[in-house]
Amino acid sequence: MGYNIAIDGPAGAGKSTIAKLVAKELSFIYVDTGAMYRGMAYACLKAGVDVEDEEAVSKKCQESTIEICYEEGEQIVLLNGENVNGYIRTPEVSAATSKIAVYSGVRARLLDLQKDLAKKQDVVMDGRDIGTIVLPQADLKIFLTASSAERARRRTKELLEKGQEADFEQIKKEIEERDQRDSNRKVSPLKQAEDAIFLDSSDLTIMEVVEKILSLKK
Ligand code: DC
Repeated sequence: MGYNIAIDGPAGAGKSTIAKLVAKELSFIYVDTGAMYRGMAYACLKAGVDVEDEEAVSKKCQESTIEICYEEGEQIVLLNGENVNGYIRTPEVSAATSKIAVYSGVRARLLDLQKDLAKKQDVVMDGRDIGTIVLPQADLKIFLTASSAERARRRTKELLEKGQEADFEQIKKEIEERDQRDSNRKVSPLKQAEDAIFLDSSDLTIMEVVEKILSLKK
């Protein structure tokens, strides 16, 4: 069994940036589970499957394979063997992902893969249900959050820096809608594990959060 660090929290709390840095510091593998769900959502959109249709989505996910590999430390999502990293971060895929992530068939399809990755190696895994469902035995669990306004501000900045359009109010609204869906779904909702350490990153720098997590690792 590897050493497992689970980082859960809402969209835009900084999980992936922080998890990546913690993994690098410790020479652990970083596993971005959101990217796996995004890969499945992209498979549905690409095939014209209605994301409101649970049966059709579950069927599409059963037929599709998601694998991850690493190129120069970067996690690559392979959908049916094809690198889809360039397609899974659009607002359309984000919205579709939070819709399909509520379906138990979709979650079951990805759960074993996630568990397996953590069995074989030391990982920092981020998502919504890592500390509660995927790795309940994780050695260190963090619940990382920030206010919705701060998370929207960060996302807006990120998009503008990439030269993409970004409307703060719209982004904040989308973040709050996703929070609602992710927290209120029946299957594996976003929830702090009882033994997770709560960290609010609203007023902390990225490095302050990274150092805090490193200091918590036994
Ligand atoms: O972390 P992210 O923004 O890339 O996640 C995309 C969506 O996937 C988000 O709506 C929540 C969902 N998700 C999930 O349900 N369970 C996970 N372990 C990871 C992500």
